[in-house]
Amino acid sequence: MKSLAGKAVVITGAGSGLGAAYARHAAALGASIVVNDIGAPAAQATVDAIVASGGTAVAHAGDISSWSYAQSLVDACIDAFGAITGIVNNAGILRIGKILDLTEADLRRMIEINLIGTAACASHAARRMLAAGKGGSIVNVASGSQAGDVALGGYGATKGGVASLTYSWAMELRGSGVRVNALSPLAETAMAAQNKALMAEQAASREVHYATLPDPESNAPVVSFLLSDAAEKINGQVVRIAGKQLSFVTHPLIADPVVEGNWSFETVNAAFADTLIGQQQPLGLGYARKPN
Ligand SMILES: NC(=O)c1ccc[n+]([C@@H]2O[C@H](COP(=O)([O-])OP(=O)(O)OC[C@H]3O[C@@H](n4cnc5c(N)ncnc54)[C@H](O)[C@@H]3O)[C@@H](O)[C@H]2O)c1
Repeated sequence: MKSLAGKAVVITGAGSGLGAAYARHAAALGASIVVNDIGAPAAQATVDAIVASGGTAVAHAGDISSWSYAQSLVDACIDAFGAITGIVNNAGILRIGKILDLTEADLRRMIEINLIGTAACASHAARRMLAAGKGGSIVNVASGSQAGDVALGGYGATKGGVASLTYSWAMELRGSGVRVNALSPLAETAMAAQNKALMAEQAASREVHYATLPDPESNAPVVSFLLSDAAEKINGQVVRIAGKQLSFVTHPLIADPVVEGNWSFETVNAAFADTLIGQQQPLGLGYARKPN
């Protein structure tokens, strides 16, 4: 039997780029897919490709930043396939801008789509999954830029917000059978092309850099895995896929050493001078290597 047989999955922003790759891959593994995109022709093109390959999919065009549209999208999956067992909150936008350039309009639109849209779809899906009592998998989409990146402050903030939603909702739903994870993908897409001119400056500012970007298809098996019952023990994680590298992204924790004292300006100053000054955390995406 195919790994996703019997699954009914909504994938947002699946008219192109990574979302289309996720939809095609999950459909090939037997899932029935609701293909959402803000562009109706793009959504239909993904559906046509899936159906031509013998898969099952329906298109549902709309803007996921609308809380009520998100509900109708989730309900469309139940109408079409009798259930919703998974959702991939992939739809997102990138607006580039350093601290002095980022506009209010760009920041607000990123928050509306990347953060509020993800929250709306996840919340409605969780409500339906809990009511059905058969578990489910919510896959959000974060980004390496949640660690901070040059000209990606606003975008990274929305993705850091998505990671925080993932952690909180995984805690709340623990034990219910509904799992919440996030993916931190990497691919050559229309969005990545927007960032091309900045790549050299960004790479010089952080430990991790990539000479070339992988195909969207190389990310898709991880999404299909998280949607499957094989991932039933995986919850509350941000999973990073970057070409041949598969890993978790570290959760923000309180760092060692924890200095204890009765804190005044003078003792805080001394704690920094004596201990914390050498313990500052890195900026930007790097590797949290375990000491040998
Ligand atoms: N490409 C990468 O390397 C990379 C890295 C990290 C995270 N991501 C994230 O992965 C996701 C997909 O990225 P991509 O590179 O494929 O982007 P993309 O721009 O190539 O494709 C995004 C798709 O989402 C759709 N979309 C945009 N706004 C929408 C809305 N309001 N409602 C419904 N659909 C909407 C677009 O029409 C488009 O088809 C995004 O959340 C992005 O932030 C991408």
